[in-house]
Amino acid sequence: MSIKSVILAAGKGTRMKSQTPKVLHEIYGKTLLGYVLDSVKNLTKENFVIVGHHAEEVEKFVKDNYANAKTVLQSPQLGTGHAVSMVCPSLENYEGLVLILCGDTPLIQEETLRKFVEHHKSLNSDITVMSTIFDDPTNYGRIIRESDGSLKCIVEEKDATAEEKAVKEVNAGIYCLDWGKIKSAFSELTSNNAQGEYYLTDIIEWGKNRSLNVNAYILKDNREIYGINSRINLAQATKYLNERVLTKLMTEGVTIVDPYSTWISDDTEIGQDTIIYPATYIEGKNKIGKNCKIGPCAHLRGGVEVADNVKVGNFVEVKKSKISSNTNVGHLSYIGDSELGEHVNIGAGTITANYNPITKSKNKTVIKDNAKIGSNTVLVAPVTVEEGANVGALSVITKNVQAWALALTRTPVRIIENWVKKQS
Ligand code: UD1
Ligand code: MG
Repeated sequence: MSIKSVILAAGKGTRMKSQTPKVLHEIYGKTLLGYVLDSVKNLTKENFVIVGHHAEEVEKFVKDNYANAKTVLQSPQLGTGHAVSMVCPSLENYEGLVLILCGDTPLIQEETLRKFVEHHKSLNSDITVMSTIFDDPTNYGRIIRESDGSLKCIVEEKDATAEEKAVKEVNAGIYCLDWGKIKSAFSELTSNNAQGEYYLTDIIEWGKNRSLNVNAYILKDNREIYGINSRINLAQATKYLNERVLTKLMTEGVTIVDPYSTWISDDTEIGQDTIIYPATYIEGKNKIGKNCKIGPCAHLRGGVEVADNVKVGNFVEVKKSKISSNTNVGHLSYIGDSELGEHVNIGAGTITANYNPITKSKNKTVIKDNAKIGSNTVLVAPVTVEEGANVGALSVITKNVQAWALALTRTPVRIIENWVKKQS
């Protein structure tokens, strides 16, 4: 059965106190909305993102990055039920499943959504809502069940009685709908509640009243639906995501010397027996091979491909570069827009000067197999150091260096004998 998704992202995000729309805030260089769109990319054929506040920026982001997603404007924003109703014209003749998610819950995983949809299918469900348990359920909609345990309705915090507020099972804000049976609900919801909004949560009762098959799927790890409303939540979500990534990497055979000071994005692959030393920060999409040593205090900024047996040492920053096997970048260097061959040695303090501020262009540095770059060298890109060439320390390299040549731009050493003694 075909699946389409609707991602709600029109809300204001007031508590972020930001000029940037909430869903475009980033974790490891990827937007919150990007995480949600990625979580459905292998499950759905088409995705709709409901936009409202800062609509133009969010529309541009979706258009530039996600060919399988369309934006739909919701203006004004009259609630989550109203938001979903915006896709009704686009899905008028659609009969498959619709997965509804929120653009501000970036930690949801594809695997979980897969299980959720399977659960929906296996129960022959018409409406399935994802729920989870919180010790402190404040602010979430509460899942209210009948005495036989079946679903009754969802009550929002602001509409809840004291008894309902005590319920710890909450609505995760993720739904799977049999669209053909549910779509007519969206013209029948009312805004008769404490917030005067059209609540998506009312579809539970709507379905029950029509004897539809309505179910909940209880998510064990409530961190997966952790929502971002403030910068505090953003930091906490980054921590949760990081713990998940590091646990997975360690399980797969990567040594993380200090998980408390190491930050690695979920788009980073790392091979077995690689050691990540403390205070290393790896963001964006990267691939690191086997038996590498990364850090301490290394910064990989995305687009980095590192082969096996490579060392990226302390205070080394690498961006959008390829480093082949058995190469060392030991200390205090910047490698950007570069390609390094095998058995290359990069001396301490080497900089690839990749950015031309006049033309605002990025240029490439190529260092071929077995080349050795002396300490404190600046390689002014575009530039190539051919196979086996050496560059003397403190050189500024503005021309290509031929294979097996030595390039030097250093001023000769002057020694003035007894100079010190003559000063007194
Ligand atoms: C909602 C649920 C609540 C659930 C919680 C989970 C409703 C009525 N309540 O509450 O049961 O526990 O999510 O996080 O659905 N949005 C729009 N257009 C609107 C309003 C909201 O696109 O008109 C979007 C927001 O940008 C956000 C999502 O919908 O991404 C949820 O809205 P929010 O206002 O955060 O709802 P909650 O009060 O958190
Ligand atoms: Mg919310």
